[in-house]
Amino acid sequence: MRAIARAGPNIALIKYWGKSDSAKNLPAVGSISVTLDDLFTEMRVELDDGLDGDILEVNGERRDELRRRVSACLDNVLGPSRCRARVSSHSNFPIAAGLASSASSFAALVVAAAAAGGQDSSRGDLARLAGRASGSAARSLYGGLVELSLAGDGIVVETLLGEREWPLRIVAAVTDTAAKPVGSSEAMEISRRTSPFYSRWIEEQAADLAVARDAIGARDFPALAAVAEHNCLKMHSLMWTSRPPVVYWNSVTLACLARIRSLQEDGVAVFFTMDAGPQVKAICLPDDEARVREALRTVDGVQAVHACGIGCGAALVGGA
Ligand code: PMV
Repeated sequence: MRAIARAGPNIALIKYWGKSDSAKNLPAVGSISVTLDDLFTEMRVELDDGLDGDILEVNGERRDELRRRVSACLDNVLGPSRCRARVSSHSNFPIAAGLASSASSFAALVVAAAAAGGQDSSRGDLARLAGRASGSAARSLYGGLVELSLAGDGIVVETLLGEREWPLRIVAAVTDTAAKPVGSSEAMEISRRTSPFYSRWIEEQAADLAVARDAIGARDFPALAAVAEHNCLKMHSLMWTSRPPVVYWNSVTLACLARIRSLQEDGVAVFFTMDAGPQVKAICLPDDEARVREALRTVDGVQAVHACGIGCGAALVGGA
């Protein structure tokens, strides 16, 4: 009746933006991501039929305002007549800071909840359940470089390259830790309804995915860099051309991009990506990590820099 699971966040290199079915939280496009090591969320789920309602603690504090999403996820994993649960979550990195804590949280939650409920679910089923809570969470069930594809009226997730097959490093520059002005689900809907570029985004995604998949297979860093930066800027262009516009960037975000461009001009193998927030993630090869870290750390306004490698998928870490 009790289990603990751990999952790392993931960063998309080819982005998910837009839903084909909001009720089922189905993405309109496939995506490719990298699961991070070092950063993790640990979820402890204890089922207790003596409880009247679910209890959620995040990093030691009751967070009733976040409980509804957690309860809905537990209903999906364990069924609506499940017993209530005491859920506690610990992350070793700042949550709500644009470092994909919802992906690590829901990936760990489905693994812990299924184990606490004695269910023997496949990794694919758990990924689909996590994806109903947060589209990107489905990818954190898998380690390495991961692709989420659309299949029929659902999703399939798989590892393209295992965590030890290409030692990329990810350096994240935190430019602002304030809560997002608009959440990703709402922002995606605004883009779907109003951006004149939305249909083109959907049309081109298969080609971007194919280029990235091939680049990953060949460990071709420049090819992956080019398509990942293009895909990221295309996603943010959708946001900017929405009505009302959704702009997550700030001036420090732009300063980080300029710094990465000058590193590239100096011959450093590095590229950037950004998600629904103002943080900049730089992907590089291990030999260049120290230089990239230092370059981003010294951008005026950068509050913190976190560096990590590629990690494994969500897993149980204990039953108590
Ligand atoms: O999983 P969500 O609903 O938080 O959406 C994530 C969307 C992006 O992070 C912007 C892109 C992605 O593929 O992770």
